[in-house]
Amino acid sequence: MNQQAEPFLKELRELDDFKQVHVSRPHESAHLHASGRATYTDDIPLVAGTLHAALGLSTKAHAKIVSMSFDAVRATPGVVAVFTADDIPGHNQCGPIIHDDPILAEGVVQFLGQPMFIVVATSHDIARLAARRATIEYEELPAVLTAQQARAAEQYVLPPMKLARGAAAAKIAHAAHREAGEMLLGGQEQFYLEGQISYAVPKDDEGMHVYCSTQHPSEMQHHVAHALGVASHNVLIECRRMGGGFGGKESQSALFACCAAVAAWKLLCPVKLRPDRDDDMMVTGKRHDFHYAYEVGYSDDGVIDGVSVDMTSRCGFSADLSGPVMTRAVCHFDNAYYFPDIAIEGYCGKTNTQSNTAFRGFGGPQGAFAIEYIIDNVARSLKLDPLDVRRKNLYGKTERNLTPYGQTVEDNVIHELLDELEATSGYRSRRAAVREFNAKNTVLKKGIAITPVKFGIAFNVTHFNQAGALVHIYTDGSVLVNHGGTEMGQGLNTKVAQVVAHELGISFSRVRVTATDTSKVANTSATAASTGSDLNGKAAQDAAGQLRQRLAAFAAMKYGAGEVSANDVRFADDCVVVGEVVVPFEEIIKNAYLARVQLWSDGFYATPKLYWDQKTLQGRPFFYYSYGAAVSEVVIDTLTGEMRVLRADALHDVGASLNPQLDIGQVEGGFIQGMGWLTTEELWWNPGGKLMTHAPSTYKIPTVNDTPPDFRVNLFKNRNAEDSIHRSKAVGEPPLLLPFSVFFAIRDAVAAVGDYEVNPPMNAPATAEEILKAVRAVRASRGAQS
Ligand code: MTE
Ligand code: MOS
Repeated sequence: MNQQAEPFLKELRELDDFKQVHVSRPHESAHLHASGRATYTDDIPLVAGTLHAALGLSTKAHAKIVSMSFDAVRATPGVVAVFTADDIPGHNQCGPIIHDDPILAEGVVQFLGQPMFIVVATSHDIARLAARRATIEYEELPAVLTAQQARAAEQYVLPPMKLARGAAAAKIAHAAHREAGEMLLGGQEQFYLEGQISYAVPKDDEGMHVYCSTQHPSEMQHHVAHALGVASHNVLIECRRMGGGFGGKESQSALFACCAAVAAWKLLCPVKLRPDRDDDMMVTGKRHDFHYAYEVGYSDDGVIDGVSVDMTSRCGFSADLSGPVMTRAVCHFDNAYYFPDIAIEGYCGKTNTQSNTAFRGFGGPQGAFAIEYIIDNVARSLKLDPLDVRRKNLYGKTERNLTPYGQTVEDNVIHELLDELEATSGYRSRRAAVREFNAKNTVLKKGIAITPVKFGIAFNVTHFNQAGALVHIYTDGSVLVNHGGTEMGQGLNTKVAQVVAHELGISFSRVRVTATDTSKVANTSATAASTGSDLNGKAAQDAAGQLRQRLAAFAAMKYGAGEVSANDVRFADDCVVVGEVVVPFEEIIKNAYLARVQLWSDGFYATPKLYWDQKTLQGRPFFYYSYGAAVSEVVIDTLTGEMRVLRADALHDVGASLNPQLDIGQVEGGFIQGMGWLTTEELWWNPGGKLMTHAPSTYKIPTVNDTPPDFRVNLFKNRNAEDSIHRSKAVGEPPLLLPFSVFFAIRDAVAAVGDYEVNPPMNAPATAEEILKAVRAVRASRGAQS
């Protein structure tokens, strides 16, 4: 039914534009999350005859497997089968890049917790219980546990990476001031609330359908196909949502998908594998912990003349994603600073521990942390405000803007961003107040710090920067979208649905995004490197744009009486406007269908401008940069080592936000997660190589009580200089670097114990124990001086 156009058109003109993007709206599943109705993999109703699997884990860090006996396992009532590496019909391999990652240990175990066999039983509990009844004989081999030990033994999972520019050593040697030191930065467990899980259901004619909690369905498809010895088209991976991934389900969901699929294949029964939290933490890799050795030379006013860093990561027993993680660390050591003379070396230490993997920031945080630590030292040594030293070394806008890896920083907003945050946070006056407090208090000491972030967006590996989408319009005018990205709570599906709704001029409620499914969009990239909405938003926009063009051509012909061109047809407010005629969206769809117009389309996107040479570590690995900064104020108790964050102000650049509320949620979440990493989350292996912090009882993630009571998160007003989706910027990972300010505020508080005369030797995480140690060290060195 056509309505009078004029009032509506006037309204539209006043509205400026019909907008479904750049508006806050709740997460598409918020009502389901909050009411417990969101379906996670474990909630999928079981097919009749479903069996349950559990993994048998190595109890040695490094050993030859002499024999395995499963008599007692098989004798357990309810046990159906036991499978070892010999039972895998195809390849016993699930390494994402290098083939050094067996699904099940073969001949040798390389870490304590490595899966060796699968027990399948009629219930989850029986499978777990029986898995402990195996008798394994080992012949122990020497184990290397830490990054430094691996370095000393020159034992690496990959060749070292070296990136240098200018003459760092000479500049350091001739600088007015010189400093050298070492420090450690801990790893981090992803601690997704929903653990790893896969449910494999055999299908007709050697088909296998695996419901898998994964950030990378296409890679799971390849691994399962290889493990079963079938072609990829036999395997379908499906993931509606994850209860968090944080990088931990980028590659490491593979082992669970493959084990469930192998068991299902052998038994021709559906098999579910859901490790409990302890097993999950014992089996899977975490954020890489790093050891650094650095040298820096600087001037009287804090300009860094030359800097060199040598970084070694603990990779675990296999390469997994350790190469790309180290590459990103190398490409983020500069953080927001220009260093003409710089030398970076990265070593990927092979150890007999869990194979470390992606975690929010993907090595970027580890690279940038090192330079922030160095600058913190420089500032304290010179008795300058660290903010001033940071400012002296920032990348320039149009000069001093070439990164060590050859990319020019063209979109730098860090100067304005810092100006704004310095003002809104009251940084200078609060710093003075902190000094005053510390002069009066001997037990409690306060500290404050401000740290900047510059984070590169895109996968370093150029070919991963592509995405596809499918958009269907049904005859009732409802829209179904499928894309290659995965939803893990970050709100990707909400953003993609907003983009499609905007493109078609329809309300958000008309658009539904369905589960990621390898049979719909093929050869997808992991939802990682924060690129989810950049890539899939553009691909979905492409698909919706094609539909819009087709509909516009049809509408111009049908309603425009030959006088309106397709380009002048407008889509807004659930209507299509053709000259003077306004047609409801469902009506145009119905008529287009009757006229045999194709009402579905695919879409594709490949990020432009990228190139990268991994050998020389040169190119343009990033499409653009995201910026941010935060100020944190803390108080420590010098008797107990206790710490509280009193206030945190974050200002973060997400370009022209697609959904400001979701983005603020990501900044808050990233901040708290990074704060946990740098303060309470400590991974500790005993001398036998057993991870002792493998449950929430011993591994302390932040709780709501650790959230700063005064927490001010704002988005920096900006538009992406590059043609990203509606000029927005990625937000998933960069905010994880904002709580560097918490760590350096703690260090500032510890320094107060020694009247700011010495640089506290403090490693991360700054646990209560570490803070106490640092307090004592500062006191001791002050005592020695006086
Ligand atoms: N937010 C939530 N709620 N849950 C998650 O698992 N993962 C983070 C980030 N934010 C994560 C999250 C990581 S590691 C990445 S790479 C991005 O989200 C991935 O999603 P995006 O590319 O769509 O931002
Ligand atoms: Mo995120 S670490 O790239 O999954």
